[in-house]
Amino acid sequence: MEIFRVTGGARLVGEVRVSGAKNSSLKLMAVALLAVGESTIHNVPNILDVTIMAQLLRRLGCTVEYSPETETVVIDVPETIEHRADYDLVRRMRASIAVLGPLIARTGAADVALPGGDNIGSRGLDMHIAGLERMGAIVTSEHGYLVVQAPSTGLVGTHVYLDFPSVGATETLLMAAVNAHGTTVIDNVAREPEIVDICSMLVAMGAQIEGIGSPMLTITGVDSLHPVEYTTVPDRIVAGTWAVAATMTQGDIVVRNARAEHLTLPLEKLSTAGAVIETLDDGIRITMDRRPHAVDVVTLPYPGFPTDLQPQFIAMNSIATGSALVTENLFEARFRFVQELSRLGAEVRTDGHHALVRGKSQLSGAPVESTDIRAGAGLVLAALVAEGESTVHGVEHIDRGYVGFESLLAQLGADIKRETLEDLG
Ligand code: UD1
Repeated sequence: MEIFRVTGGARLVGEVRVSGAKNSSLKLMAVALLAVGESTIHNVPNILDVTIMAQLLRRLGCTVEYSPETETVVIDVPETIEHRADYDLVRRMRASIAVLGPLIARTGAADVALPGGDNIGSRGLDMHIAGLERMGAIVTSEHGYLVVQAPSTGLVGTHVYLDFPSVGATETLLMAAVNAHGTTVIDNVAREPEIVDICSMLVAMGAQIEGIGSPMLTITGVDSLHPVEYTTVPDRIVAGTWAVAATMTQGDIVVRNARAEHLTLPLEKLSTAGAVIETLDDGIRITMDRRPHAVDVVTLPYPGFPTDLQPQFIAMNSIATGSALVTENLFEARFRFVQELSRLGAEVRTDGHHALVRGKSQLSGAPVESTDIRAGAGLVLAALVAEGESTVHGVEHIDRGYVGFESLLAQLGADIKRETLEDLG
């Protein structure tokens, strides 16, 4: 068990570079299953989830080599692959569900353990299932597994309308549709940059997809796809976290490889909070010289405000001038971390999916526990501005989304170090 020991007060100044998006890389690895042969994916972050996805692909029959130095994964997919994703891997990483679409497309069947997840709400699969059924699949649940069987002649293109632009359901149906007979229209799809990334890799592999980046995707099934070399889109959530860090610590951070166009709303909010945002050729620069103003936030599917930056913004609002209302529309349990933030002296009241944050001039260091990746990032940011020392527990959650978070923060001037609990005596 590891912790971060943080002493607040430093102004963060310097440069960081963001690597590829976790939420894209994991799905791109699943996309590789759709083509027999060797696909290479660059800009894949060195995080535990990538190791778990690599392990899952190996169980399915692939050869997978990941190089942390070059952040590149090479996946060799055989003619025949298995179609079962076991519980021991799926329970460790909900994103394992990304293999569902490719398995049905490649083998006509999928047995995927029902996922657990990372403590941020119920996260149903109903839209994945309804869409696959519309394409002709028979879906049942047996012994904790989702069991999907395509008709013997394969899935059939159809018109699917999603109740809600779910990222996961869009991915499953998109990947299932690329080899289906005829044309599949998926309406009300998610438009996150990570979805666009998946579409771009699929197109490079020979898929026929129209409407990429729009609310409606039209996919014309092709017989087979070919392997490719592809580079993952930079992580907008990690970039956004650095931008909030600069704003909260009244710092000056250049975030290389960040794409401002993927962060339009969060950067607009930081600008309202008082930060100066400069778009550079290969990134963004965020400078701040005073306490931020509190800003209201409403999380919504992209291009709305990302739920994955909501805890970081609550942390910022907790030391801002004024008050703000934060509304969470995607994951009901995302406010759990507020209790931990309160241990640092933050004044936050929640009611259903609203949180009222009253900014305070100072937080006070305390031991806190991360409950998921983004909550962990929010708590670290709060600890960086709190008076005195904090210990952030549950670091394994933070490690799932942020490679070397504490070393990068230390390079920017933060007083933070990683310790194992044995060290504490
Ligand atoms: C992905 C991201 C996550 C991000 C989220 C929203 C990954 C690994 N995770 O999660 O970081 O916060 O997008 O941007 O990429 N839902 C249903 N039925 C369904 C599908 C979804 O009820 O069939 C609900 C979920 O319970 C959840 C909400 O819709 O409350 C959003 O889910 P979804 O957009 O699918 O997000 P994920 O793919 O789980």
